[in-house]
Amino acid sequence: MTAATGAPLLTLPEVARAVTGDLVAREVPSRPDAREAFLRQAVDGVSIDTRTLTPGQLFVPLRGGNTDGHRFLAEAFRRGAALAFCERERYPEWEGHEPGPLVLVEDATAALQRLARRFRDGWHGRLIGVTGSAGKTTTKDLVAAVLATAVPTLKTEGNLNNHWGVPLTLLRLRPEHRFAVIEIAMNHPGEIAGLAAMARPEAAVITNAGSAHLEGLGSLAAIAREKASLAAAVPPGGPVFAGADSPRLMAALRGMKVRVVSYGFAAAAAVRAEGLTDLGPEGSRFTVAGFPTVHLKLVGRHQVQNALAALAVAREYAVDPAAAVAALAAQRSGKGRMEVRALRGATLLVDCYNANPESTRAALATLAGWPEATRRIAVLGDMLELGGDAPRLHRETGEAARDAEVWAVGTYAGEWAAGATRAGVTARRFADQAALAEALREALAPGVVVLIKASRGAGFDALVRRLGAEA
Ligand SMILES: Nc1ncnc2c1ncn2[C@@H]1O[C@H](COP(=O)(O)OP(=O)(O)OP(=O)(O)O)[C@@H](O)[C@H]1O
Ligand SMILES: [Mg+2]
Repeated sequence: MTAATGAPLLTLPEVARAVTGDLVAREVPSRPDAREAFLRQAVDGVSIDTRTLTPGQLFVPLRGGNTDGHRFLAEAFRRGAALAFCERERYPEWEGHEPGPLVLVEDATAALQRLARRFRDGWHGRLIGVTGSAGKTTTKDLVAAVLATAVPTLKTEGNLNNHWGVPLTLLRLRPEHRFAVIEIAMNHPGEIAGLAAMARPEAAVITNAGSAHLEGLGSLAAIAREKASLAAAVPPGGPVFAGADSPRLMAALRGMKVRVVSYGFAAAAAVRAEGLTDLGPEGSRFTVAGFPTVHLKLVGRHQVQNALAALAVAREYAVDPAAAVAALAAQRSGKGRMEVRALRGATLLVDCYNANPESTRAALATLAGWPEATRRIAVLGDMLELGGDAPRLHRETGEAARDAEVWAVGTYAGEWAAGATRAGVTARRFADQAALAEALREALAPGVVVLIKASRGAGFDALVRRLGAEA
């Protein structure tokens, strides 16, 4: 993970000042000109991982589950780091034999965030924050692709959306960027507000408010409020592009002093998809007022919603409609996000990057609508982080199965099966992935369409590998 390159950032003393840390260096040149050059040296990007660090960067040693970046301080300088943070508590180990210039700080994560905030304050483009229960990364990519047709646009790399990812992304801002599209996520209450205070968005995209992270937040209304807190960071009157098909989100935004631009299938949506044709593996085709016909290669109705967010942004910022639509047509699905694969004549819809009730419903709807299928099988595993409501939510989501068999495995296999049975579809339970994979291998044949859906923690990528398809 590297927030790399581009124009030089800040000089060593400026970094120290921005984070109110102390700059210590074993060898500060004594000759005035050399000393001056040392102090004028600038860090060129930020890295938290020595494996991807490039010369001239600031190394930020983070402490995670079972590793501590301070172990890699010397390695960072061997690889050419210009500067590194070092937490005061860890400094005694290095005192007197510093491997390079250090900025002593209380807490490396907090210092990274302060630096990012300072850095962002010096950037004058338009920053769009993206949050929501599902579809953040996809929407962020679509929005950025559309804007990039008009002006240089920075976007969050992959899924770097948390207390480390957001500051690292902000530290990649450069003067030439006119827009930045930043994914912002949360695991606990208040996190979005904190990250938004750092990013200072001038606009927000909020995809939906569902039941992902119910465990951390307790209630659906609390989740919706948390998502809406990104809108609270947008200046009064600023645009908030919001998924109109999420009533809880729309309710949470009511009364806020922002300009809500809704998008979706809902009749009331300001940016609305009409005449939707499901093209199966070819995605879908639809029209939106003011744009040429859209052909989206991404599979599933939920992707249409994500594309509408991008078109709403395009309209707001007067991006050429034809260019916007062409950018959407060029997008391909990310790994594990409704990827369409062929295996022994059958079609696999691999959607095991993550799962929650909303995304599983969306995936079940896509499966049910898959054209020319002779048999449809939904392979469902655990949806995680749902707290005490998990059994009920699995049952209820299972009830959304239509025109498909449900094959269930994992902790909630019983609940999946119960829900599916109530919906009147055939349900099978499997003791483990191996048993399921074996049955599935036998079932794969031309015309068979298989949805593979579970939270990442359920390890369905291993199931896909067992079937003999690349995970
Ligand atoms: N608009 C949507 N509504 C419901 N489900 C969606 C939507 N967009 C995407 N999904 C589902 O969510 C999955 C993950 O998509 P994506 O990575 O874009 O979401 P995310 O919000 O960034 O996830 P994470 O919380 O891991 O960052 C997709 O595979 C799909 O199943
Ligand atoms: Mg994401």
